[in-house]
Amino acid sequence: MQKHNGEKYYITTPIYYPSGNPHIGHCYTTAACDSIARYRRMQGYDVMFLTGTDEHGLKIEQKAAEKGVTPKQYVDEIVEVFKKLWKYMNINYDRYIRTTDDYHVTAVQKIFKDLYDRGYIYKGEYKGKYCTPCESFWTDSQLKDGKCPDCGRDVVEAKEEAYFFKMSPFADRIEKLLTETDYLQPKTRALELVNNFIKPGLEDLCVSRTSFKWKWGIPVTFDTNHVVYVWIDALSNYITALGYDNDTYNDYDKFWPADVHMVAKDIMRFHAIIWPAMLMALDLPLPKHLAVHGWITFNGQKMSKSLGNIIDPFVLGERYGADAIRYHIMREMALGSDSSFSNEIMINRINTDLANGLGNLVSRTVAMVEKYFGGTLPEIQQSGDFDEDLIAQATALVDTVDGFIDKTQLNNALAEIFKVVSRANKYIDETTPWVLAKDETNKPRLACVLYNLLETIRIVSTLLSAFMPTTMPIVWEQIGANSKDVTYENTAKFGVLPKTVTVHKGEIIFPRIDVDKEIDELNKLIGSQKKEEPKPEVKPEKPENVALIGIDDFAKVELRVAEITACEPVKKAKKLLKLTLNDGFGERTVASGIAKYYKPEELVGKKIILVANLKPAVLCGVESQGMILAGENGDDVKVIFVDGLPAGSEIR
Ligand code: MSP
Repeated sequence: MQKHNGEKYYITTPIYYPSGNPHIGHCYTTAACDSIARYRRMQGYDVMFLTGTDEHGLKIEQKAAEKGVTPKQYVDEIVEVFKKLWKYMNINYDRYIRTTDDYHVTAVQKIFKDLYDRGYIYKGEYKGKYCTPCESFWTDSQLKDGKCPDCGRDVVEAKEEAYFFKMSPFADRIEKLLTETDYLQPKTRALELVNNFIKPGLEDLCVSRTSFKWKWGIPVTFDTNHVVYVWIDALSNYITALGYDNDTYNDYDKFWPADVHMVAKDIMRFHAIIWPAMLMALDLPLPKHLAVHGWITFNGQKMSKSLGNIIDPFVLGERYGADAIRYHIMREMALGSDSSFSNEIMINRINTDLANGLGNLVSRTVAMVEKYFGGTLPEIQQSGDFDEDLIAQATALVDTVDGFIDKTQLNNALAEIFKVVSRANKYIDETTPWVLAKDETNKPRLACVLYNLLETIRIVSTLLSAFMPTTMPIVWEQIGANSKDVTYENTAKFGVLPKTVTVHKGEIIFPRIDVDKEIDELNKLIGSQKKEEPKPEVKPEKPENVALIGIDDFAKVELRVAEITACEPVKKAKKLLKLTLNDGFGERTVASGIAKYYKPEELVGKKIILVANLKPAVLCGVESQGMILAGENGDDVKVIFVDGLPAGSEIR
């Protein structure tokens, strides 16, 4: 047990993109940081817990355009959903930063200028492969089969003026940071970073985009044709939110360097290499730890915005309570590995640990105090067999939990707490209070058994209050504990509650769930959610300067009806489906970028319009012998299906 009165502690989540509503993946990092922050507060630390939203960039600009609103209007709406979710999940952050906040914008401009003045940012030329429709530059190694990795289309050589950040001067220091210190948790990931990014030579980073293509960003003050690259903007949040280079806050000296930045593996590189390099260039202290966790996956895929709608934290919270969801995701995720989300595992976990384990322990104990003693224990109590072991385990728990919190291993901390819950349930079986109750002379022993159970519940519920902050106060009310009893210091002590404590029977804290019925209902819900997801309609824009063609030009295109006889995903390209078609005269294969919009089984047996005389092209290893017609609106694509005409019919 370590008390840390007044010592500072600074913990951060990533700042999330408000490009879609938050999902259970975002909940994990935020609930984990919240639990650590709450635990640190209990330990006496003066805590700053920061979260927020990363609101600039092309993606947001495009999404806003699709909806026909300004980027700011677009993010304002989604930020409200994030904040509502954090309130719902009982996330007690100290500060919420939005990268569109004025103070952050001006501070980032100063940071950029400072890096420029120090000679670490210079103007150069960005040369690379450019995908025009995606407006993205790619390096050769990022291309997939020489094509844009996002859309599979051809890229062209292009160059543009840009600012670069010199990374190479920091390579040695960063390598040492990753391999010789405990900055990165778990350290096993250090090797992969060093081998992939540092050993081949740290490349300078392009840190601006021209504002012709991309306006929704922070302008470079001394060259307004450029906006600051989103990651320079985003990473700076960890210091601007404390008041670095701005007067809005005055906490930088107190809280920097951060004690923990927690992120998932997708953004580890930015926090393990680029962020330390920026701080080194600015001559600022480095954060103490970067805790990297895996992904919550669903059917083997990273939970994404679209899947996130299916596993909507509001829907789950509504059914099982926010604390049960917090518990489940934190108990399942081991630092460093992925955790697969499944409704079955979640419901079983809630039933086993929360309903049968903790819930039962609390309700049985309180019910027995009521039944055998009218709710108030007598002063005279007599200790006996099994007490010592229970007391030893309960009072040793805090040290073990402290150790796991220090290592950000929340799943292990929770597992240890629940070992004591099981120990207490076993103690009930060992001491058999219902047998003791049969004989009046056993009353002092019975009172002691129940008192020991109440004390154990006090200890575990105090430690658990960092993880499940909504439910534990209800437990305290039921076991007759007041706020002075449930302090961190008291978790190492036994005998804190008065001997003559009075309990209050109350609601069941975690009701047991009927697994089969619930899975059925969840599946139905998922089905209906899927249907209820209309894509936002975008008003089509009238094209300008379209060259007119003659009927002869059009006649050059051979359009025919074809039937899809088979369909499968293309392993190497997420966006492509491989279609086998009967074009009325034979079989041919077409690769089409519609995987995001259709499942293979939805297409088989359908008739479509085929551009039959297109030159064959190889797309991600598939020879595509033609093209199928589809309509596009915003983010939605609909294949044009044909009814009533046999395969091979000509379309004119
Ligand atoms: N805006 C950047 C971060 C900038 S930090 C200076 C970004 N945003 S994000 O919205 O994509 O959020 C990524 C983070 O959300 C992950 O690092 C992780 O914390 C959380 N998660 C998003 N999906 C997740 C899972 N499926 N599983 C676990 N965590 C997930 O990247």
